[in-house]
Amino acid sequence: MKILLISALIATFSFSAVVDDYLDSLKQEVLKENPSFKGFDAKRGEQIFTSKHIGKKGKEISCTSCHGVDLSKSNENFFTGKVIEPLSPKANKKRFTDIAEIEKWMKRNFNDVYVREGTALEKGDVTTYIINQ
Ligand code: HEC
Repeated sequence: MKILLISALIATFSFSAVVDDYLDSLKQEVLKENPSFKGFDAKRGEQIFTSKHIGKKGKEISCTSCHGVDLSKSNENFFTGKVIEPLSPKANKKRFTDIAEIEKWMKRNFNDVYVREGTALEKGDVTTYIINQ
């Protein structure tokens, strides 16, 4: 019974340990450039996630173009029409469980929308926004 309960807890919270590690390493990076940095901000993250930019393919897009505005729901890829499962780790247990996977998509997706890589500050802010959706 105890074991069942513990494994249920681990399954529920597995994303948070990975996210804590990820946010912590981003924070160390930000602190190198800005020693007075206080912390990541979901409000700034929302701006990063929802604002529109002329993307890599010359079309005006935002992160929401592929992930939608309601991150607890699935959405269609703006370019391919393929279904993308919900981005919120509260709605989709597979989200934010693998740092390599998170990094790979952050790099690719920032490039799609901003035509450059995200900074540590931007990635920390946008992650803080997403995990609270
Ligand atoms: C052109 C479509 C598209 C845009 C625009 C886009 N994404 Fe994605 N994103 C994807 C696809 C496709 C995947 C990988 C498939 C999947 O995980 O469902 C993905 C995966 C991710 C993941 C991986 C999460 C995990 O742990 O599984 C994160 C984080 C992410 N996107 C964040 C962003 C952010 C932040 C932006 C805006 C800067 C953004 N995305 C814009 C298509 C997009």
